[in-house]
Amino acid sequence: MCGIVGYIGSNNIKDVLIEGLQELEYRGYDSAGIAVLQNTDFAVYKAVGKLENLRNKAASFAPEGFGIGIGHTRWATHGKPTELNAHPHLGQSSYVVHNGIIENYQELKNELVAQGVSFLSQTDTEVIVHLFEAYLKTAGSPFEAFKQMRARLEGAYAILLVTTSEPETIYFAKHGSPMIVGRNRGGEKFFASSDSPLIGLAQEVVYLKDGDFGYVTPAAITLYDGSGNPAAPLFSTLPESKLSAQKEGFRFFMEKEIYEQGEVLADTMLGRLKEQEVYFEELDPQLFAGVNEIKLCACGTSYHAALASSYLFERHARIRTSVEIASELRYKEPLLSPDTLFVVISQSGETADTLETLKMAKAAEMKTLVICNVDNSSMVRLADASILTRAGIEKGVASTKAFATQMAVLWMLSLAFAKARGTMETGAIAEQIRHLRELPACVRVDDALHERIKRLSKRYLHGHGFFFIGRDVFYPLALEGALKLKEISYLHAEGYPSGEMKHGPIALADPELFTIALMPKNMLYDKTKSNVEELSARDSTICAISDKPFEKADDFIPIHDREHYMLEFFEMMVVLQLLSMEVAVRLGNDVDMPRNLAKSVTVE
Ligand code: M6R
Repeated sequence: MCGIVGYIGSNNIKDVLIEGLQELEYRGYDSAGIAVLQNTDFAVYKAVGKLENLRNKAASFAPEGFGIGIGHTRWATHGKPTELNAHPHLGQSSYVVHNGIIENYQELKNELVAQGVSFLSQTDTEVIVHLFEAYLKTAGSPFEAFKQMRARLEGAYAILLVTTSEPETIYFAKHGSPMIVGRNRGGEKFFASSDSPLIGLAQEVVYLKDGDFGYVTPAAITLYDGSGNPAAPLFSTLPESKLSAQKEGFRFFMEKEIYEQGEVLADTMLGRLKEQEVYFEELDPQLFAGVNEIKLCACGTSYHAALASSYLFERHARIRTSVEIASELRYKEPLLSPDTLFVVISQSGETADTLETLKMAKAAEMKTLVICNVDNSSMVRLADASILTRAGIEKGVASTKAFATQMAVLWMLSLAFAKARGTMETGAIAEQIRHLRELPACVRVDDALHERIKRLSKRYLHGHGFFFIGRDVFYPLALEGALKLKEISYLHAEGYPSGEMKHGPIALADPELFTIALMPKNMLYDKTKSNVEELSARDSTICAISDKPFEKADDFIPIHDREHYMLEFFEMMVVLQLLSMEVAVRLGNDVDMPRNLAKSVTVE
């Protein structure tokens, strides 16, 4: 997602801004820009693509002395990645950068257009600067105009705004998107979307809370809380090492990524959920026209997301859905028919096998869609349409938050399909949307739960194997749980449909066979329970994950009592991620970079 930086001081503004943006690259972006204000003169540079392009454009710009500046890396949501859509956005004499989505931008834009304002970009962001300038005409001061403008915004935002009327001041507001303000003993002030750009520059930072707004000058940081009351900035000291800062206090990137799933899921759904329908701005409604079948194709964790979603597509949209492992599809001389929508799922957008199947689908003149975490990746460029998962850069080789966001997108897409095909009542869709909105809270890691899993993990360091079992969507989740454990603990684990155990694998059951049983209350509980009892009767060691106590389990990990099985799915997903991580930690393995694996598999 987008990244923001800001600076007030005299130490080479351009480098501070661009190097800050470099530190935010991990959030993902497709264009970037900076605006520097010295006296009443603005210097503005924007470029599509990598920061190198921005650096080249601004090569001859060498600001000296005091100035203020704002910078931004943009991950396109409203409007394509072009220079015009890149931030900062200009009014008459002010520039703004923004992270998030202004949900009522169309209404504000109509109002401003009626007043004669012209817009240059297709972004939601541009309304902010024009609205500010509209209020500036009547408000007594730029800050008053900023306050009035902020009061009109709906949605999520982190905003920095600079204006020639106050050339030593940066105005800021935060609601739902991250923003930090920092200072050092030299009087310099900084803004950033996360800690990492500030390490080595600022000694103290304030982590702004939702609703906070105010302004910063060379002399002071002036803060107001969400109710508009003056607030004292609460400073924290920044860690000194960049690596530990990027991990934000977590032991591993994987742990950090598990913990940030609530935040990224909120980003994934931002602007895509209406009361009664799911809306993907990036999809042409024609994509659904004439489609009689869906074929999903992916590798590894993304394949598990595909498999889980096939249950949702058939259940919600009543459309025939098949799922393929990309390396298999490539050589099986498949039947690829033009009335089938070919959907590839990939965190990186570069996995060689998946990319190749996408080329095959294009050659067969199928409609193609990619669900991907990296904009401008090979798959995004090739497919007819793309939906970005907005998980931010995932550094741990073992995928966690990327899977969570893929599942959220696929769940949403199944509802969009259902609506287009008329297979679900509006009320039923609205009900699922209500559950989707619960996802960020549902995946939040509870300290007590993490502690319990940490303690339990010591009993699962040996044995002759693990079976993760479940039914329906919990079968692909079982596959994913087993893959996570394999990847980082190097223990043998298999995912299996619960009902299949008695057709062979149950022969392995003994106390040294560990069964991790996914027992959701809302999906085939009694059926799964019988299968687990069969294993328990043969002395397999059972670790049950459920919201219902299960007396035959040797170990029990409770989840919350949920109303919908997909919420149980997401909560169990977090449990499985934590369990595999804690086992790997106890075995002394490299959690983030397990042996023999690469984050992006670009070879066949
Ligand atoms: O980037 P992709 O989603 O296409 O990658 C596919 C697999 O290589 C990937 O999911 C892999 O299985 C992960 N290491 C799983 O944690």
